[in-house]
Amino acid sequence: MRIRIESLPLAEVKTELLAIPVFSSGDKQVKLPKAVAALDRTLGKQLTKAMDTGDFSAKVGATLTLYPNAEIGAKRIVLIGMNKADSFKPHSLRRAAGSAAKVAQRVSSKKFAFYLPSIKKFSASQRAQVAAEGALLGAYRFEEFRSKASKKTTELTAMSLLLEAGDAATQVRAGAKRGSAIASSQNIARNLSNQPGNALPPAELARRARAVAKEVGLRCQIFDEKALAQMKMGGILAVGQGSINPPRLVILEHKPKGTKARSHPVCIVGKGITFDSGGISLKPGAGMHHMKHDMSGAATVVGTLRACALLKLPVHVVGLVSTAENLPDAKAYRPGDVITALSGKTIEVLNTDAEGRIVLADALTHAAKTFKPEAMIDLATLTGACLVALGKTITAMVGSDDELMKRISAAGENVAEPVWQLPLRPEHTAQIKSKVADIKNTGGRDAGTITAAAFLAEFTHGVSWTHLDIAGTADTQKPNSTEALGATGVGVRLLIDMLQSWKALK
Ligand code: BES
Ligand code: MN
Ligand code: ZN
Repeated sequence: MRIRIESLPLAEVKTELLAIPVFSSGDKQVKLPKAVAALDRTLGKQLTKAMDTGDFSAKVGATLTLYPNAEIGAKRIVLIGMNKADSFKPHSLRRAAGSAAKVAQRVSSKKFAFYLPSIKKFSASQRAQVAAEGALLGAYRFEEFRSKASKKTTELTAMSLLLEAGDAATQVRAGAKRGSAIASSQNIARNLSNQPGNALPPAELARRARAVAKEVGLRCQIFDEKALAQMKMGGILAVGQGSINPPRLVILEHKPKGTKARSHPVCIVGKGITFDSGGISLKPGAGMHHMKHDMSGAATVVGTLRACALLKLPVHVVGLVSTAENLPDAKAYRPGDVITALSGKTIEVLNTDAEGRIVLADALTHAAKTFKPEAMIDLATLTGACLVALGKTITAMVGSDDELMKRISAAGENVAEPVWQLPLRPEHTAQIKSKVADIKNTGGRDAGTITAAAFLAEFTHGVSWTHLDIAGTADTQKPNSTEALGATGVGVRLLIDMLQSWKALK
């Protein structure tokens, strides 16, 4: 979708669909901004009348489509509710643009115009950024496996952002460009996560990561199963050995010009289980197909590194994708097996379905030892317990560094990808002590999300670290204005928000 900037009077904008966000003002009559009031006068107060009837409430999520009763450039007008201006959060505008995109698709219009309202305390570029994000995210659908074009949603080709008087076009253009870079990268993460297991085995995930790297100019290294064996990545190999599709480790590097030779990057590590059947500890059949999303953490890493490159963020970032397929097979690893991770630690496998922590263990060790990072953040659809604790809208966070977690929480609030911290204490680490090996891969039913994190912590080697369990937030069955059915691409916006203002920890 291209984004154009226009600054005509609203009545003159030639478009199939003109979307206008409208703020409510409590019980009082809605006070329209000047440009919208002028349009309303041209329309003989048609907008005001629609609101006076109470048909349109200006609540977030409300939309009303009107057909202009005078000769103006727009064929349709869509009013979009924004709640009260003084409680404005950028996400309301992201949602409004998402709703506008969806209405445009519903009426099979490839283009639409969106009036960018001015809001106190938010710059033109901030507003343009979230509007662009909302439009791209709202327009996203996963339909590549539908063979009939007629069954596909209209593809939007352009959005015109209509300027408020006083907003500089250069500012709006810069914001829209940022928003497009971020949202298109989030959509790439969604697209990877939505791929069925047969379409995206580990080698294919690696190839697609490399294609993204090529597109935007990231360094990319792929380690195949032979290389992994040479490197002694006993964890990744054990999880992957039950599949004919061998595992991979992918490393993407964003190294801005002027990065010092001994730079300490931020490492982002993603769980990339392309399909998780549970392995020999087989999962129940109902709902198992959702486990095609078990590489959502990896997808987010790829999307985030892409956005880092497009935005030329002035921070050294390394993404690691640890990818394998977890299947039952004659060659599969089994409950009771003891495996040796890259770090040398031995792991007693009590449940082959707790595979994510095992593939992450090797990636975290490799990241810590190879890159000497300033911070490591991992993202993983790691535990069903996370859904029990926090549901489908909140990401669980566990970590070793309060400052890093503070930054992640703040970024989550900024971009409407909320996270909630869970504690990690010695009693949780005690739960994963093994009688047979150094540690075991399950800690029992209690505090399942935390004991999974406790396991990961054993492989962080003293590096400042935070784990994000996205088991609940990586996919949705309830589409809304900015999310489609399936993968959400959670984490891309959050990490970019945090990285764009990155400063050395402590
Ligand atoms: N990929 C799953 C976790 C998951 C469950 C993600 C539901 C999204 C939705 C993970 O590999 C897993 O199976 N975890 C087990 C761990 C247990 C065996 C200790 C779980 O949560 O049941
Ligand atoms: Mn599993
Ligand atoms: Zn899994």
